[in-house]
Amino acid sequence: LHVAVLMGGWANEREVSLMSGNGVADALEERGHRVTRIDMDRQVAARIAEAAPDVVFNALHGVPGEDGSVQGMLNLMGMPYTHSGLATSVIAIDKQLTKQALVPAGVPMPGGRIVRSTELFEKDPLPRPYVVKPVNEGSSVGVAIVTDESNYGNPIARGSAGPWQDFDELLAEPFIRGRELTTAVIDGAEGARALMVTELIIESGFYDFEHKYTEGRTTHVCPADIPDRIRDLCLGYALKAHTVLGCRGTSRTDFRWDDERGEAGLFVLETNTQPGMTPLSLVPEQARAGGMEYGALVETIIAAALR
Ligand code: DAL
Ligand code: MG
Repeated sequence: LHVAVLMGGWANEREVSLMSGNGVADALEERGHRVTRIDMDRQVAARIAEAAPDVVFNALHGVPGEDGSVQGMLNLMGMPYTHSGLATSVIAIDKQLTKQALVPAGVPMPGGRIVRSTELFEKDPLPRPYVVKPVNEGSSVGVAIVTDESNYGNPIARGSAGPWQDFDELLAEPFIRGRELTTAVIDGAEGARALMVTELIIESGFYDFEHKYTEGRTTHVCPADIPDRIRDLCLGYALKAHTVLGCRGTSRTDFRWDDERGEAGLFVLETNTQPGMTPLSLVPEQARAGGMEYGALVETIIAAALR
C-alpha cells in the first residue's frame, strides 16, 4: 500500500503531530508499505495529488487537521483517509457541540458555558473551582484550573494576560475533583470496541501538556485499578460517544471521576477523533496491553478507512 502520512501543520500541537506521524510512518515502512511523509502547509492538496497515495493517514492534531477542514479537502479530492469524516470532526473538535450531541444520548458531561477571554479578566464566570479551556484545542493547550487555593494559571489572580488571550471562545466548566481516566475505541472488522480504561496519575498539578509528553512525569495504570462498575460505565460511554458522533478508525474518550461521589461522579470531558499516536500515547498503549502491537493498530485504522 502507498500511504501518505499527513503530519505537522501549524496547530499548537504541531510537535505532537510530528511525533505521531513519524511513529506511524516508521511502523508502516517496517511493515513493507510505501510511505510519503507530508508536513502540512497551505499547498497540501497539491502535495497529496502529486504523491497520489492509495490512502492518507491523518496524523494531524488540532485545527485544521482535526476540525473537518482537512477532511473536507480530502472529500473533495476523492481521497480515502483515516479517522473521522467531516461532520464528526466539526462536532468533536468543539467541546460545547460535543456536549450538545452526547448529553441527550445519555452521556454525562459537566455543565458549562462559553465565555470570551475578555470577560475572564473581569470576573469569575462560575463559582470556584472551575476550569477554563479553549473550545477546540487538544493536549491541554490553554487549559487553566482556577481554585480558591492556587489560582493556577488564572490571569485574574496574576493580573496579566493568561494563555487565553489567543483564544476567542473559551469554555468554563465546574472543576471535577478526583481521578483522570481514558478509554480508547477501535473499529475492527467486527465493529467498534472499547479497549480498556487507563488511569493517569500525576504527582502534582494536572494532566497538562508537560505531563502528557515528558516521559516519566505521569504514571499510566493500564488497566486502571477502579471498581468494575466504573470500568464498565467508561467502556460503555466511550463506545456510545464513538457511535453517536460517528467516529471512524479510532477515538479516545477522556473522563474525570470524583471517586467520593461513586457513579454519579463520573463525567466525560471530550472525545478525541485524532488521538495521539506518539510512543507515550494512550491509544497505542491500550492496544498493546490488549495484544495489538503499534504496527497492527496502524493497519487496523487504515483498514477502517478503506472499508
Ligand atoms: N490531542 C492529543 C493529541 C490527544 O488527544 O492525544
Ligand atoms: Mg483532546
